[in-house]
Amino acid sequence: MIDASTPLEPTGNPEYPFAATLDVIATFLKDKPHLLKPRVGIVCGSGLSTLANSLRDVVKVPYSALQGFGKSTVPGHKSTLAFGLMGDGEDVPVVAMLGRFHPYEGHKLSTVTYPIRVLARLGVQNMIITNAAGAINPHLAVGTIVVVQDHLALPNMVGMNPLLGPPVSPNYPRFLPLSNAYSTSLRRLAFLAAHKLNLPDSALAEGVYAWVSGPTYETAAEGRFLRTAGADVVGMSTVPEVLAAHEEGMQVMVLSLVTNAVVIVDSYRSIREEVKAELAGKPIELPPTSVVSHEEVLSVGQAKAEVMRQLVEHIVQNVPQDNA
Ligand code: HPA
Repeated sequence: MIDASTPLEPTGNPEYPFAATLDVIATFLKDKPHLLKPRVGIVCGSGLSTLANSLRDVVKVPYSALQGFGKSTVPGHKSTLAFGLMGDGEDVPVVAMLGRFHPYEGHKLSTVTYPIRVLARLGVQNMIITNAAGAINPHLAVGTIVVVQDHLALPNMVGMNPLLGPPVSPNYPRFLPLSNAYSTSLRRLAFLAAHKLNLPDSALAEGVYAWVSGPTYETAAEGRFLRTAGADVVGMSTVPEVLAAHEEGMQVMVLSLVTNAVVIVDSYRSIREEVKAELAGKPIELPPTSVVSHEEVLSVGQAKAEVMRQLVEHIVQNVPQDNA
């Protein structure tokens, strides 16, 4: 947790130019000081940037103005930090990241996590991180929002952990526990919000998010592997941000919108059998293997963005002032 005793650039590491970034943000917000200490930070995933439509009194800061921020290169991702107020009753100051960075774009893990660390230094104590994800669990229909209860991060286990290297602050634990990474208090708010919005029971699920580096979608064998390993959904983002936010002492919630089913066949079509049948004069025609596309992911994101927006808005307005 950041407090007055935490130096802004404890490591002197040029990958973390906190003072310069915070100065620019303060300049953009100089006429709106009430937006400068947001209660909640929101990361908008693929096709979910309309979450920012709930904001009032908005100030947008382009990533290009912020040292240490990269540029998002993924279609459906903008590159803007949006400060504003959310909620019908009480005005809750929030900051939304419209667009995030992924390692597959060529961004370093320190760049992927930097914006989260900046939000922590603005005083954000609660992070709602959204993403688009593929369903590994066959019971999860496209359009379901999964409240993530745990993750399975293969990159973390093989040398691509975002927290490798010197800690950003000497105050942080070297061996960060992750069994409590997903805030129970925020997850409760998600289910209470769904109830308040009269969403059907099937609208929200709970599950385990598998992080893969991408940018390729999974092979059927990889899909089976992840299913056997206990994953419910899979995606190419989020876990680095969760680790940084958890390390910074924030409460973290992840909402994964299921945009597609991962293509998992339990048995392959046999070309040998097809050739044999053809040679025997009884050709068999099997359907081609289906494939996932980014367009499909974006269009489900757009179709469900309104439900996600309402859910996030309800959660935000119920986050207590000091949710530690
Ligand atoms: N796999 C990995 N990442 C994804 C998928 C998927 O099927 N859908 C959306 N993000």
